[in-house]
Amino acid sequence: MSQNVKGVILAGGLGSRLKPLTDITNKHLLPVYDQPMIFHPIRKMVEAGIDETMLVTGGNNAGEFLRLLGDGRQFGVRRLQYTYQKGEGGIAQALGLAEEFAEGHPVLVFLGDNVIADSLKPYVQKFRQHPQGGMILLKAVDNLSAYGVPKFKGAAIEKIIEKPKKAPSPYAVIGIYLYDASVFRIIKTLKPSGRGELEITDVNNSYIRKKRMHYGILPGHWADAGESIDSWFEANLMAREERKKRR
Ligand code: G1P
Repeated sequence: MSQNVKGVILAGGLGSRLKPLTDITNKHLLPVYDQPMIFHPIRKMVEAGIDETMLVTGGNNAGEFLRLLGDGRQFGVRRLQYTYQKGEGGIAQALGLAEEFAEGHPVLVFLGDNVIADSLKPYVQKFRQHPQGGMILLKAVDNLSAYGVPKFKGAAIEKIIEKPKKAPSPYAVIGIYLYDASVFRIIKTLKPSGRGELEITDVNNSYIRKKRMHYGILPGHWADAGESIDSWFEANLMAREERKKRR
């Protein structure tokens, strides 16, 4: 049976790696080339056929999202909901706030600072047909110590190591994930990591241990605009290239 997939965009945090650009605004409101960063995940979700989305934000500028995005209809979002994460509890905690919104449906989770060239449509379609377990997307990059990195046993992922000193493979786990509704049960079992947060990598490792995690390798460009000023700059260049292709 094909299942309705709902969208969750995580757009909280203090954006400390992009200071001083984020001193008076939320990172996801910064421009990426010609648009506010937050437009990108919304457009990618709509392109993939997801028209019910929850935006989880936090920090001091939460109201600005409502001012910018309104009810989301200008983007083709039928139902846009907002919620607020108090403090810095981590990505997995922020996702947990979307449990009632998900209403038992699978979710596409998009970290709002991730910028990709490819369409998510094929991945979402595949997941709709078999909405069980989880799916992560990998991309080969250089600065692996900033990311979750999978360790492989043959073609299967054995586990993901968060911000490894020595990377066990050339791939970063990008910040776009598909999960069945059991993700909300998993989040409730997590303990805070060394940085005091509930880690999305612990969620992914839980699926991996149960052999319920699939992965895809993203063919096109990926930029994590929140990782550093340089990577934000790269995301701008990438968005410009992509825009030129569509002209
Ligand atoms: C988070 C995840 C990490 C992932 C990255 C992708 O890192 O913890 O596994 O590779 O997003 O953007 P963070 O941005 O919290 O450092």
